[in-house]
Amino acid sequence: MEIKKEHKNILLIGGAVLLVVLICTLSLFLVNNQPLDTTPTRFSIPDNETDSSVWGNFYPLQYESYLKNSENKDSKPHVDSFPYLTEMYKGTGYGAEFNEPRGHLYALDDILNVNSKRWESRQANCFVCKSPQIPDLMDKYDFSKLSFEDAKSEINQTIGCYNCHDTKTLDLKVKQKPLLEALDRMGVDINNATKQDMKSLVCAQCHVSYYFTDENQVKFPWDNGLTAEKILKYYDESNFAEMYHPDTKTPLVKPRHAEYEMFMGSTHQSAGLSCADCHMPYMRDGDTKYHSHYWSSPLQHINQSCLVCHTQGEDWVLNRVSVIQNNTKESQNRAGEAVVEAINAISKAQNTTGVNESILNEAREMHRKGQWYLDFVFVTNGYGFHNPGETMSNLNKAIDYSHKATILANKAILNADTE
Ligand code: HEC
Ligand code: HEC
Ligand code: HEC
Ligand code: HEC
Repeated sequence: MEIKKEHKNILLIGGAVLLVVLICTLSLFLVNNQPLDTTPTRFSIPDNETDSSVWGNFYPLQYESYLKNSENKDSKPHVDSFPYLTEMYKGTGYGAEFNEPRGHLYALDDILNVNSKRWESRQANCFVCKSPQIPDLMDKYDFSKLSFEDAKSEINQTIGCYNCHDTKTLDLKVKQKPLLEALDRMGVDINNATKQDMKSLVCAQCHVSYYFTDENQVKFPWDNGLTAEKILKYYDESNFAEMYHPDTKTPLVKPRHAEYEMFMGSTHQSAGLSCADCHMPYMRDGDTKYHSHYWSSPLQHINQSCLVCHTQGEDWVLNRVSVIQNNTKESQNRAGEAVVEAINAISKAQNTTGVNESILNEAREMHRKGQWYLDFVFVTNGYGFHNPGETMSNLNKAIDYSHKATILANKAILNADTE
């Protein structure tokens, strides 16, 4: 059969119309079934822009959640809950003031208003983890010689976007010198870090233990490894003492918020999680998914932070966390009592005429260890949650070494030269 010309045209037009309708339907279907938008347009931020509100103009969702950190404003002195700290930190800046942490937006205010005993000998270094302006200022000045007041006059921004992101690519970037130097000494090439590694390493710029060298440089004591035991060995190898307990003359070293160290080797880290997975989970705004920039207790957004994996449900998660944290606090208190007992025994021995000095020094060595292991757990936020097994192991050591210190101090008295 022959098809007439007009019929051919009608068929062609009809086909074309059908095709257009098909394409439209298909693209509508595809658009509606696309995964939520998780790769936002990357805007280029001006070079060296440390003002987070400027970044906020380009990334309003992240900025809005960042501003929420102002809600995280409560903080009380640790000593209110743990009175043994008074004895443990006697004579140090920590004895003068040591409060619970609060939101990143308060970091600069808090260092400016902290009891001056906390920074009197440490000058500009105290600002190192409080502002996005630090990495560039450390290129400009020698922080080991800069005064607190001189640094203060240059700094007006609290922790913000520039601390963790590259201005051009928005990729995560480690900028803090002490971390870059520590990784370098350990033979770790930061350029080989995976995206997942970076989601913890940006936090490791600050949430780590550090000390001031004799040359007044901020340094991470990681050369032997990241556990409390390996870090203490690092200090012992050079007979380093940060302070002497006024009642016992024990040469002490001071751990600090070792969240990253504790997390490394934990159940969750070995299962492939990063800090950001719990502390900065994905949130949803309409069709857009974005990372929360509200750094607080993940239990505030348990659905997004925990229940994505733990299908056992909210009650299970809350209960497990409280069991871990209560066990930690109980053992911490026992270790605290043991450390105070050791301090009292050594102090009594020291005041005994003719006391056996060599046994007394052994007692001081045990006090140094006992206090170290307790303090390591104490200053690490989360009350043991980040690594329950390692936390308990450290507290066992704290209790054991402290008891040994007490026994040795008593022995030093018994062996006093009474001639
Ligand atoms: C403490 C580190 C840190 C700070 C400070 C920080 N971010 Fe992020 N940001 C992250 C992490 C971690 C991710 C997730 C990266 C990934 O998934 O690879 C992220 C992701 C992002 C993304 C990608 C989209 C998304 O939500 O996943 C944007 C945009 C962003 N941040 C903007 C900002 C802005 C704006 C600020 C300042 C108001 C800021 N960030 C401050 C750590 C930080
Ligand atoms: C530039 C340094 C710096 C970086 C980077 C940083 N923090 Fe912090 N963070 C701090 C300081 C300092 C405080 C305490 C502020 C205060 O109390 O004034 C703090 C406090 C916190 C708190 C406690 C808030 C509370 O409720 O008590 C959490 C949680 C936290 N940070 C998580 C993170 C996570 C997760 C990362 C990485 C994604 C990170 N931080 C990166 C310096 C930093
Ligand atoms: C598996 C989830 C998870 C991971 C991963 C994780 N945390 Fe936590 N973090 C928690 C929980 C749960 C708490 C306890 C919160 C509470 O007591 O309300 C906590 C507490 C904290 C606190 C104290 C917050 C406060 O309100 O006092 C800080 C700071 C912190 N974590 C930092 C980090 C850093 C840095 C990393 C990575 C090195 C990390 N966390 C990895 C779940 C996690
Ligand atoms: C990406 C998946 C994932 C997320 C998110 C996650 N967990 Fe886990 N968690 C695991 C895995 C895997 C284990 C190992 C045991 C297992 O297989 O269940 C575990 C174990 C635990 C345990 C018992 C082990 C221990 O350390 O004693 C607790 C408690 C726990 N998680 C709490 C939490 C809390 C609280 C959060 C949220 C703040 C959280 N988890 C988020 C995967 C996850």
